Amino acid sequence: MTYVELLTEPRLDDAYYHSANASRVYGCFLGDSQNYPADREAARAALAVAPWVQQSARINRAFQVQSYTWARDTGVRQFLDLGCGWPHHPVLYDVLDRKFPVVYVDHDPGVTAHLSTELDQGDATTVIRADIMPTASFLTSAPMRTAIDLDRPVAVFLGDVLPWWPDDTVVWQAMSELRAWMPAGSILAITHLSADFAPSTVAALASTYAEHGLAVRPRPCEEIAELFGDFAHQGPGLCATGRWHPEGPYARRPAEHSAAFAGIAVKPTDKRRSA
Ligand SMILES: C[S@@+](CC[C@H](N)C(=O)[O-])C[C@H]1O[C@@H](n2cnc3c(N)ncnc32)[C@H](O)[C@@H]1O
Repeated sequence: MTYVELLTEPRLDDAYYHSANASRVYGCFLGDSQNYPADREAARAALAVAPWVQQSARINRAFQVQSYTWARDTGVRQFLDLGCGWPHHPVLYDVLDRKFPVVYVDHDPGVTAHLSTELDQGDATTVIRADIMPTASFLTSAPMRTAIDLDRPVAVFLGDVLPWWPDDTVVWQAMSELRAWMPAGSILAITHLSADFAPSTVAALASTYAEHGLAVRPRPCEEIAELFGDFAHQGPGLCATGRWHPEGPYARRPAEHSAAFAGIAVKPTDKRRSA
């Protein structure tokens, strides 16, 4: 396993453990033990305003795992998990049976430290601590250039990462650069919080997170659609996360429980490195 730090901040200091953290709050909903009082308070407050929020975390996680398998079955043989979060097994590494190169990127020092020990046996595994906004710092980094062959398609996952970036300009720029970098035939899978299914509850949820120091921005369907550029949507297209995989355990749940849209799209073959 290769482990690279491209960031010096934030550190694993007091502030890190005493403030709520997106990755750990999400982990509270998935039953993780890696969380602290500030995370649990934020999770409890979120549940009080949006009782389905735990369900939506589970729906999101199930979508990621099903999408890893879906992407593998298309024949793609290299994978990039951006904002991969705490290792909630099965992770890509498990689904791919350690056979194909996987790069995990997260800016959270606790997440990457944990990944680097848990996934230590995989030669094909690269863990990078980096900020994916902006993209240039990690896309052009030496470990990325070693791990990912830009002459072949790559499957890129952005599960519940972009809502934690309220600044549209930053997100749009990062996505444009990412799509341009992806080789033709590559797969882009995104899930994104939205208020479209339950406007007042999701607005209350965002305010509650803000009170706990977590800035989150739900986006409407049409803005989430723009994150995919001109990539060709697969399956049912952009829809409530639980419904993308019709055979999945959450396909019949109300869209409100997903509280997010999911899409999987492929970069056109005649548009190599253009977005
Ligand atoms: C809610 S978790 C989602 C984890 C995983 N992708 C999933 O869907 O199960 C969001 C993750 O995105 C990471 N993240 C948010 N913004 C990021 C950024 N700019 N650069 C790198 N990681 C980021 C957080 O640290 C966190 O681990």
